[in-house]
Amino acid sequence: MDTKTLLTERRSVNFFDTSKSVSDETLQQIVDLAVFAPSAFNLQPWRIIAVKSDERKEQLFNLANKQDKVREASVVLIIVGNKEGYSDANPVWGEMLQTVGGNQAVVDGAKQAAAYLYGSSEERKLKFAESNAGLLAMSLMVAAQEFGVDSHPMSGLDFDGIHAAFGLEAAETVVMTICLGSADTTKTLYPRRPRRGFNEIATIV
Ligand SMILES: Cc1cc2nc3c(=O)[nH]c(=O)nc-3n(C[C@H](O)[C@H](O)[C@H](O)COP(=O)(O)O)c2cc1C
Repeated sequence: MDTKTLLTERRSVNFFDTSKSVSDETLQQIVDLAVFAPSAFNLQPWRIIAVKSDERKEQLFNLANKQDKVREASVVLIIVGNKEGYSDANPVWGEMLQTVGGNQAVVDGAKQAAAYLYGSSEERKLKFAESNAGLLAMSLMVAAQEFGVDSHPMSGLDFDGIHAAFGLEAAETVVMTICLGSADTTKTLYPRRPRRGFNEIATIV
């Protein structure tokens, strides 16, 4: 699918066909494509919890303002950002060392820069987690479309409740959830709402 079609045809699908499911294989393909999203220092400070079982979906439904799409979607992704994804614990630093031919000084310099840029205040930590994981979220919706899977992003959530119920670590934050499935074609989505374009949102300086 070309990019223009992809971007103009993606919709937040409110109604999912409960008789259709996204296979684990397709989910894996979607995620493996979406992770080409960019991230600071390629740190990929994110993870995904794919909520599939009826029991866990019901739990999430109650923490998502009882939005029916959580129940109806085949799978709901909890996009988790890591506010301390710049720390030594991130395995990406090890991979980076190999990429730079074992030059430890380069990696140490990058670690120091990342610790300052993304870890020197609570605001920076949250920006780091949410900006990177937000790009992954869009990438996931685009990748889903490529595989014929419809999506719906959601942030009408009890973030703290999900954090606790799904056992997130202290440094992790729930960025949003994304429902995945097949649109229920017996129902009509509201018309695509207009977007504010270049003249309204952009300034050339
Ligand atoms: C971060 C984010 C959070 C959203 N949260 C919700 C939500 O909780 N419930 C909902 O019905 N729609 C939610 N939406 C969907 C938006 O309402 C929708 O994207 C917007 O109206 C434009 O529609 P379109 O995506 O079909 O173009 C969310 C969208 C984004 C990007």
